[in-house]
Amino acid sequence: MPDISRFGVIGCGLMGSGIAEVAALRGLDVIVAESTPELAAAGRDRVAASLDRGVLRGKLTGADRDRALARLSFTHDLGKLADRQFVIEAVAERREVKLEVFRQLDKVLTDPDVVLATNTSSIPVVDLAVATGRASRVVGLHFFNPVPVQKLIEVIPALTTSADALDRARSFATEQLGKEVIQAPDRSGFVVNALLVPYLLAAVRMVESGAARPEDVDRGMELGCAHPMGPLRLLDLIGLDTAQAVAESMYEEFKEPLYAAPPLLQRMVAAGHLGRKSGRGFYAYDA
Ligand code: 3HC
Repeated sequence: MPDISRFGVIGCGLMGSGIAEVAALRGLDVIVAESTPELAAAGRDRVAASLDRGVLRGKLTGADRDRALARLSFTHDLGKLADRQFVIEAVAERREVKLEVFRQLDKVLTDPDVVLATNTSSIPVVDLAVATGRASRVVGLHFFNPVPVQKLIEVIPALTTSADALDRARSFATEQLGKEVIQAPDRSGFVVNALLVPYLLAAVRMVESGAARPEDVDRGMELGCAHPMGPLRLLDLIGLDTAQAVAESMYEEFKEPLYAAPPLLQRMVAAGHLGRKSGRGFYAYDA
């Protein structure tokens, strides 16, 4: 199977920017599409800032950063992705937004062998697949935050995914992006979030009920179970809005009360306390 050289990423938020960065560092030609010129420019700044941090920490040389930046281009015109061999969608975790991206992508992509992946955390991959005229070429590739650090990608075949598209997605993830994969079922939450989300929501309920303070919950899990960060710090990293959206999709699918977003989480999202990205969540962060 020839390597993918022309890669596309839709959406340049936390996840999309991390995926674009990793792909460019691994030598791929990457086009990143955002919905407006302003968001495309902000996406470029996000990737450039992360590469700069890599240089400051001695992880990358200035030349690595410059080569990666030269392989990246940013656009607000989805049509620029026409010649891509592999495209991943990493827009906000909202069904309608993702469906619209898949419908539009289907119209612009010209390579009949192109693979369309989604980084959704919780929306059924098959729903996005059947929004296109090429459901056999659509697959889930679920990355973890921060993308440059976390080794795992969940690979999720939908009922419609062909063996060839699945193989291509697996080899792209492992051989080209250098990640490790597990195969996960096309059920809301896949494997990791199905276990992680009820745990995170239980931590929110513990704080909401006044039973424990955030810092005690987090220190408990960090020192007691050697987790790199406790559940509330992790929610701040993931983004409370994203966590809420994932919990709601899982609840919608299973009607399992443990998946229901607690009122405190909903109120924090309504208040704009989204975690690190907004400067405030369970903790306060520098801008
Ligand atoms: N890009 C590149 N490298 C980064 C980075 C980034 N954005 N953030 C951290 N790093 C690197 C640092 O350079 C450092 O490398 P080194 O050890 O070789 O020097 C290493 O990661 C550790 O970083 P720090 O010393 O700054 O900070 P920590 O030791 O506190 O680690 C962390 C930060 C990597 C975020 C760690 O706390 C962690 O792994 N936390 C758990 C994250 C997690 O569980 N993610 C999954 C979320 S669920 C998800 O994404 C799914 C979605 O659907 C909800």
